[in-house]
Amino acid sequence: MTAITELETPAVTVHLDVMADNIRRVQAHLTRHGLGNRPHIKTHKIPAIGQMQMAAGAVGITCQKLGEVEVFADAKVADDVLLTYNILGAAKTERLMALARRVPRLTVVFDNEVVARELSAAAARHHLDLEFLVECDTGFRRTGVQTPDEAFALARLARKLPGLHFKGLMTFPNRDPDTREFFERALALFKQDGIPVPVVSGGGTPALATVDRFPMLTEHRAGTCVYNDAMVVSSGTATWDQCAMRVRATVVSRPTADRGVLDAGSKVLTSDLYHMKGYGHVMEYPEAHVAHLSEEHAVVDFSACAARPKVGEVVNVVPNHCCVVTNMVDEVYGVRNGRVEVAWPVAARGRVQ
Ligand SMILES: Cc1ncc(COP(=O)(O)O)c(C=O)c1O
Repeated sequence: MTAITELETPAVTVHLDVMADNIRRVQAHLTRHGLGNRPHIKTHKIPAIGQMQMAAGAVGITCQKLGEVEVFADAKVADDVLLTYNILGAAKTERLMALARRVPRLTVVFDNEVVARELSAAAARHHLDLEFLVECDTGFRRTGVQTPDEAFALARLARKLPGLHFKGLMTFPNRDPDTREFFERALALFKQDGIPVPVVSGGGTPALATVDRFPMLTEHRAGTCVYNDAMVVSSGTATWDQCAMRVRATVVSRPTADRGVLDAGSKVLTSDLYHMKGYGHVMEYPEAHVAHLSEEHAVVDFSACAARPKVGEVVNVVPNHCCVVTNMVDEVYGVRNGRVEVAWPVAARGRVQ
C-alpha cells in the first residue's frame, strides 16, 4: 500500500470510511421508511462500489445508459436493474434485448409512444418480455409525461403492445408538493381502471431528506449520496466531512499574495457550476474561493484565509458535482488513514451511449 502523499496530482480520491458510512446511512434511512434502495451508479461507474451498495441492502441498481448496464452486467453487480432512459433506434434496442437475456430482471422506462412501440417490436421479435415504468415529469421539466392523464394513457397503450409489461411510474427528482399531487392523481386513475401499480420510483439525493412526504413511493433512487459533493452540502443534506470524493491537487503557483493556482482544472473538477459561487471547496482552506478554471489550472482566491498555502502544498478539493468528475479520470483511489488501499478503474467511464 502506498502512502496517499505518493499519489501524483491531480488525483481523484475516495475516502473509504466516509463512503462506507454514506452507504450505510442511506440504506438505513430508506429501510426505516419502508422504501427499496435502488442506488444510481452513474455517480461512481465502478462495479466494486455497486457491489458494496448491494451488500448493504439495495434492492437493485439504477443505470442511466445502456453502456453502464453492459459494464455492470459483465461484473454481475445486480440481478435487478432499472434503466432510466428512453432507448431509441435499432442499434440500441438490439443491445437492450441482448441485456434483457443476461440480466434476470431488467426494467426500462419511457415517456412516449415512439419508444414504447420500438421496444415492443424488438421484444416481440426476440420473444422477450420487458417490464416498464412510465416516466413522469413532476416539476423538473426534463423528460417525462406532463400530466397524470398522459401517464395513464401511455401506460394503457403500452400495456396492450406485445412484449411489454406495465410495472409502474417513476420521476426525478421528488418535489414537494408537485410530485405527491401528480402521483396521487395518476394513481387514482389507475385504481379506477383496476390497473395495479406495484412500483412508484422516486429519486434524488437532496430528496432523501423528505421521502416521508411521498407515501406512495415504493423505492428511491439516489446517486450522489454515495460520495456527496459541494452541491449536496449547499442543499443542507450533507456536511463537508460526509464528502467522500476529494480531488488532491498541488499548489503549483502563488503569483500574488492572495492568488494560488492548483494543478486541477476543468479537465478534472469540471465546469459544472449550477448555483454555486466557486468550482469546489478546499477542505484545508474553507474560506478560499475557487474562482476560475482553465483546462489544467484552478485559480484560487485565498484573500479571506488567515493562513495561505505555499507552492508545493497539496490540498483536497470537494468538487461541485462528483458524478461528472467520475467521468473525467481513468482511475479513482480508495484511501484510508493516509494510505491508498485500492486503485479502481472507472469501468463505465465514457459509456454514454
Ligand atoms: C433518473 C435519475 N434518477 C436518480 C438520479 C439520482 O439523483 P442524485 O444524483 O441527486 O442522487 C438521477 C440523477 O441525475 C437521475 O437522473
